[in-house]
Amino acid sequence: MTRRRLVVVAGARPNFMKVAPLLRALSNTEFEATLVHTGQHYSPEMSDAFFRDLRIPPPAFHLGAGGGSHAQQTAEVMSRFEPVLEKVRPEWTLVVGDVNSTLACALVAKKLHCQLAHIEAGLRSFDRRMPEEINRIAVDAISDLHFTTEQSANDNLAREGADPGRVHMVGNLMIDSLLECRDRSRQSAILEHLNCEAKSYAVLTLHRPENVDCSAALRELWCALELVADHLPLMFPVHPRTAKALLAAGLKHPRVRFLEPLGYLDFMRLVDGAAAVLTDSGGLQEETTILGVPCLTLRDNTERPITITHGTNRLAGTAADRIAAAWRSLRRDPPRPLSAPPGWDGHAAEGAVRVLASCAPGDAGSRFRGQ
Ligand code: UD1
Repeated sequence: MTRRRLVVVAGARPNFMKVAPLLRALSNTEFEATLVHTGQHYSPEMSDAFFRDLRIPPPAFHLGAGGGSHAQQTAEVMSRFEPVLEKVRPEWTLVVGDVNSTLACALVAKKLHCQLAHIEAGLRSFDRRMPEEINRIAVDAISDLHFTTEQSANDNLAREGADPGRVHMVGNLMIDSLLECRDRSRQSAILEHLNCEAKSYAVLTLHRPENVDCSAALRELWCALELVADHLPLMFPVHPRTAKALLAAGLKHPRVRFLEPLGYLDFMRLVDGAAAVLTDSGGLQEETTILGVPCLTLRDNTERPITITHGTNRLAGTAADRIAAAWRSLRRDPPRPLSAPPGWDGHAAEGAVRVLASCAPGDAGSRFRGQ
């Protein structure tokens, strides 16, 4: 029996947690999945460590696209992905999340008349200054299937005119990975290695361009973070983008410990053991919701509102006085999770594969441009 061909795209760190359960759920099915790594993230600690920890098989194609401006990066991924797709000629291209690789590969797929499925569709921050928001809107506008993680995403897609028959709330694939790896992550020796005790520290992550690329914005955040560090030491795995910015601004503090980016298992152990998390990441808002760790999001908005209504997340904004007030309130009255959001139970990828299997086979192959 010929198996139905799918291409799965991964490009940057937050993608890897979503493709891992997807590839697992696709194995031993009627589908043959071809993994393409665009190379948007390329440093060993941003990519290889995640393939190892999440047990992702090596990609069939590595495009080596690397960094650059948004235009350069997107164009580079597009021109390297096109010949791969023409060679594999899959029935479906599956893209995850909202990074530049997601957009680039989605555009290539649709222009080759390949069916496109978007995992983590419909999330909206309503802030078009965020590059990810542009990527989300553009990918959702051309996707044939939308897999969503929360009701707000379904509502956003409905408002934008998506066919409700093509929207499937399957749950959260990132949480599939979290639950799958939880036992192994608990065995990580990172706390011993860092010589810190559970609940005696907070974790900080920062990487959004709007927070770190502008030195005035970074200094404003830093004022509040110094105050937080006076209460609790901060463990700060530093993203490469942020490392450059911190160095240029000369920012440091004796109770803020800069760490290299961590692999998935060590990072999840560090977060699970934290008294609180301060972050501008999207995924971490979801992970803290499931781990029950209080989270302050250092942004003015979130595209994941269920982490506030059901989880442990609070928006703290980016102004120093507001963050300081949010921190004091969190210490007085820590947010507690209500209940896990529907479908954040470790089986989201299986749900997505069931939907794909229910779609009529083969029709995309015959639509592929030039076939
Ligand atoms: C990208 C995503 C963002 C995601 C983040 C997670 C877009 C628009 N942004 O942002 O949504 O939350 O990944 O990390 O796609 N660098 C390295 N090694 C690497 C990767 C990057 O040193 O492996 C450095 C390079 O100097 C690069 C900079 O970090 O120029 C930024 O990388 P880039 O992929 O452009 O954006 P991120 O900030 O990582």
